[in-house]
Amino acid sequence: MAIKNDLFLKALKGETVERPPVWMMRQAGRYLPEFMELKNKYDFFTRCQTPELASEITVQPIRRFGMDAAILFSDILVIPQAMAIEVEMKPNFGPYLPHPIRSQKDVEQVIVPDVHESLGYVMDAIKMTREKLQDEVPLIGFAGSPWTILCYCVQGQGSKTFDKAKEFCFTQPMAAHGLLQKITDTTIAYLKAKVEAGVDAVQVFDSWGGMLSPEDYNEFSWPYIQQIIDALKDEAPVIVFGKGCWFALKTMSQSGAAALGVDWTCSAQNARYLSGGNITLQGNFDPTRLFSPPADIKKMVTKMIRNFGKDRYIVNLGHGILPTVPVVNAKAFIDAVKSYSE
Ligand code: CP3
Repeated sequence: MAIKNDLFLKALKGETVERPPVWMMRQAGRYLPEFMELKNKYDFFTRCQTPELASEITVQPIRRFGMDAAILFSDILVIPQAMAIEVEMKPNFGPYLPHPIRSQKDVEQVIVPDVHESLGYVMDAIKMTREKLQDEVPLIGFAGSPWTILCYCVQGQGSKTFDKAKEFCFTQPMAAHGLLQKITDTTIAYLKAKVEAGVDAVQVFDSWGGMLSPEDYNEFSWPYIQQIIDALKDEAPVIVFGKGCWFALKTMSQSGAAALGVDWTCSAQNARYLSGGNITLQGNFDPTRLFSPPADIKKMVTKMIRNFGKDRYIVNLGHGILPTVPVVNAKAFIDAVKSYSE
């Protein structure tokens, strides 16, 4: 069935649109009172693993704000979980992996699972979400980049430096590449299954790509993202978001990706220049700028669209929305895009 609001899919194809589409990274989350209600009743992985809850949380922001795309509620860390690496989500702390990967022997014990078996609940959540969306807007599926997943698997938790993850790569590169390849193989099978289950596009989050120097990025992150693009691009449009990865925009623009995410530290002009001017870009409003008064948000969004240009552009934040953002400010962001005209 054709999707009624096809702005997002048109922008991914580079087609002309009357206004750019908009969605927000982490749009299903803690800034929404209806999300908090479910968060207070069910722990994190229960919300991810129960299709009724995951699909409900996915459509909450769509009902409230009417974004042009939904993103499935889940987490990038369901992948290591499926690979037999224990992952906990500790309240007020974040992800915690009690048995981090630190050696070749640890890597050998990591499995490449049958994703239909271990992650079947995600496919069920996709099917249930599609029913709730009634073909109103497209649905985005996602995965972390292999490097970003390795960061958590080795560090064992979030970090400002990911020093243990980087030390592992630099002192045991063979083991690191072995782990990255296992994550890549799992991620490719996972994203293909998501497309089969009904997502219209996929986004790869390389949230910690910017922790690496350009040279190390080309060794430990980019080749694995390229494998994912190669395997997926004929099945669905692939969006690559690398936080802090402006230095890789040129490489990314020649990769077969349909669109590239940009964070707020790179200007629209520079992002267009670095990516060659022809590829769809997505971003890049500073998430903390959503604390500005709604009238200022509206002005800044209009200016941002003028700077990127209305075509080959998807309006988004430069990273996930923060839990403390007022709902009316998030609404001002979405409304500013929906009322945009040349
Ligand atoms: O965008 C969406 O609305 C879909 C939902 C989504 C979540 N995680 C839900 C979530 C998406 C796309 C993610 C991806 C994700 N998860 C990333 C990449 C995107 C990014 O922000 O860089 C990363 C690095 C993770 C790992 C992760 N999950 C962290 C670091 C945390 C804790 C940090 C925090 O904000 O508390 C999570 C937990 C998490 N994932 C929450 C949500 C809504 C908050 C915890 C909760 O709801 O109980």
